[in-house]
Amino acid sequence: MITSLQKLLTKSYKEKYAVGHFNVNNLEILQSVITACEKMKSPAIIATSEGAIKYAGHKEIFSIIKNLAEQTKIPFAIHLDHGQDFDVIKKSIQLGYTGIMIDGSHKPLEENIKITKKVVNLCQKKGISVEGELGTIGGAEDLVESRNIVLTDPKIAREFVEKTGVDCLAVAIGTSHGAYKFKENAKLDIERLQQINKSCKIPLVLHGASEVPQKYIQLIEKYGGKLEGVKGVPTLQLKKAIKNGIAKVNTDTDLRLAFTAGIREFLTKNKEDIDPRHLMNEAKKFIREMVEHRIKELGSSCKA
Ligand code: G3H
Ligand code: 13P
Ligand code: ZN
Repeated sequence: MITSLQKLLTKSYKEKYAVGHFNVNNLEILQSVITACEKMKSPAIIATSEGAIKYAGHKEIFSIIKNLAEQTKIPFAIHLDHGQDFDVIKKSIQLGYTGIMIDGSHKPLEENIKITKKVVNLCQKKGISVEGELGTIGGAEDLVESRNIVLTDPKIAREFVEKTGVDCLAVAIGTSHGAYKFKENAKLDIERLQQINKSCKIPLVLHGASEVPQKYIQLIEKYGGKLEGVKGVPTLQLKKAIKNGIAKVNTDTDLRLAFTAGIREFLTKNKEDIDPRHLMNEAKKFIREMVEHRIKELGSSCKA
């Protein structure tokens, strides 16, 4: 079933677990996320970035998410990730997304407040929840990029929340998008997070939260890939963050790693197999296992 983002996050914030936000780009990733959630009886947020929309088509990707989500009893929010283009945001609202992220984090504060407030006004009328972002999360994906990390200031976060009326806030506490998150030891600024949580008192969101599991790195490298120096968010630190206000945890890189590991292994071991369905089935199996593992870490199993 399709539900509002706010409904999922109000409960997870109160009960101190996190709902998984999973980025999807195609049917296979979507099917795997949904099947894993059904098995774990976990709610989830199914997200499309502007890059995913460009790749798959906006109406097309939304239709398959809606169709599959409506066929299950598990509650799913459908969310726009890192919305920046107002045409894409307006179309997402029209199509029926239940959550919209407006990412004004690269703009000066006053402008970030202004555009975020504009999106809140558009969404409020339709009962759609809005995620804002303050501070910058590092790293580079397809269309989501930031070179300089600026950690979130707890006092400014309070002002941002009061002035914009966002339902949840993405905070920068040291994470980065992609597989290369930390040059030295992995470290989240939990003290800063505690202060932000105290001053904002709304569900907080952790982007760039992938764990980058070694088992996928080893498989990818064994079967011809090269991923030197990759490092993700350790489970213990993720759990600490969830205890301190993180109610939504974003994952894309771990999906990519699981998918790629499955495909590389399959292709190497089955040199004569040319059936895309066999190849994709392996990737789907890897993704299902990854999402189940993630749900356990986030504490969202049996919360549907
Ligand atoms: O936060 C970024 C997501 O991983 C989306 O990345 O722009 O490559 O789709 P993308
Ligand atoms: P990862 O790159 O760590 O998976 O983060 C994804 C994300 O933040 C999507 O918005
Ligand atoms: Zn992100």
